[in-house]
Amino acid sequence: MTDFSSRVESVSISGIREVFAAAGANAINLGLGQPDFPTPEHARRAAIEAIEAGETDGYTGNKGTLALREAISEKHARDNAIDVSPRSVIATAGGSEALHLAMEAHVDPGEEVVFPDPGFVSYDALTRIAGGTPKPIELREDLTMAPETVEDAITDDTAAFVVNSPANPTGAVQSEADMKEFARIADEHDVLCISDEVYEHIVFEGGHRSPMEFAESDDVVVVNACSKSYSMTGWRLGWVVGSERRIERMLRVHQYVQACASAPAQYAATAALSGPQEPVREMRDAFEKRRDVLLDGLADIGLATPTPRGAFYAMPEVPEGWVEACIDRGVIVVPGAAFGEGGAGYARISYATGIGEIEEALEVMDEATRAVG
Ligand SMILES: Cc1ncc(COP(=O)(O)O)c(C=O)c1O
Repeated sequence: MTDFSSRVESVSISGIREVFAAAGANAINLGLGQPDFPTPEHARRAAIEAIEAGETDGYTGNKGTLALREAISEKHARDNAIDVSPRSVIATAGGSEALHLAMEAHVDPGEEVVFPDPGFVSYDALTRIAGGTPKPIELREDLTMAPETVEDAITDDTAAFVVNSPANPTGAVQSEADMKEFARIADEHDVLCISDEVYEHIVFEGGHRSPMEFAESDDVVVVNACSKSYSMTGWRLGWVVGSERRIERMLRVHQYVQACASAPAQYAATAALSGPQEPVREMRDAFEKRRDVLLDGLADIGLATPTPRGAFYAMPEVPEGWVEACIDRGVIVVPGAAFGEGGAGYARISYATGIGEIEEALEVMDEATRAVG
């Protein structure tokens, strides 16, 4: 009988989905990891026009259209001051596929991947699917990842470490000094740094910096996507940037698992990346207002919350039974433990929802806190 592979048996469906399944139909959902804004009109229109012109019926090149890769290259020059050749880009089915390519192309069976704990659920699962061994590491008090903890975790068996800033599930933003250190660690140890920058535009104080700006070797690859920046999660369009030799290896995986990213999505992404950037700023400003309402409310309730400086998540420390008490009362939040052992005792609250709903949810959280406290 054909049995399942040990790699696939070592992962399970994300705990986030289980929380959604447990909630009632009218619940306020503060569990979702996607912006609640429409995709910018000019991006939608570009896809519609390309479809109507019959330009999206066939495969594109494996790496994606030249127009999209040029738009990605210009985006990196504009936003990150990084010189990226269109040859060094693969357009992918979201940031998720980009992470998968980076892992598959660089991790050998038994090799270790270091990543933040709590951290985005894919880092652990994709490491296992690549046959690697997850090495989750503890975060600082403010929920950022300390470069020295990364360096201490590196062994001869380390294939890669993941940096995620702004971070899911914590909302933490790494400083420029940290990013320089991550670049140095990648250079000095000759270990790949996978920098997941999908929330790069949602930063409330200071700005986003990439380890790729500071690396002297080609030991940094950047994963990014239109998903969060342009509210395009449903379009499934991301990309990975790396040196040509790394891109060539990742392309081998991409070619066989995906062939090319969806053509209509590539047209939409080209327009999103090269068109007006106001929608990005408007979303960021809206998220900042919501964050402030949420943080004030959590402070009033008496829940200690490290100040999230980016993305659209907050992670208060919560008493035992709090997540269940919220869900029972119709507010969906995700237990921190769904993001790793280091998340135990916390909850992830997504504020990608209207201020009215956040205020309503805060009343429920207050009640839940008193019920379990
Ligand atoms: C940190 C992080 N990286 C990558 C992704 C994947 O995003 P995409 O929808 O582009 O696959 C997510 C999605 O939630 C995320 O939170």
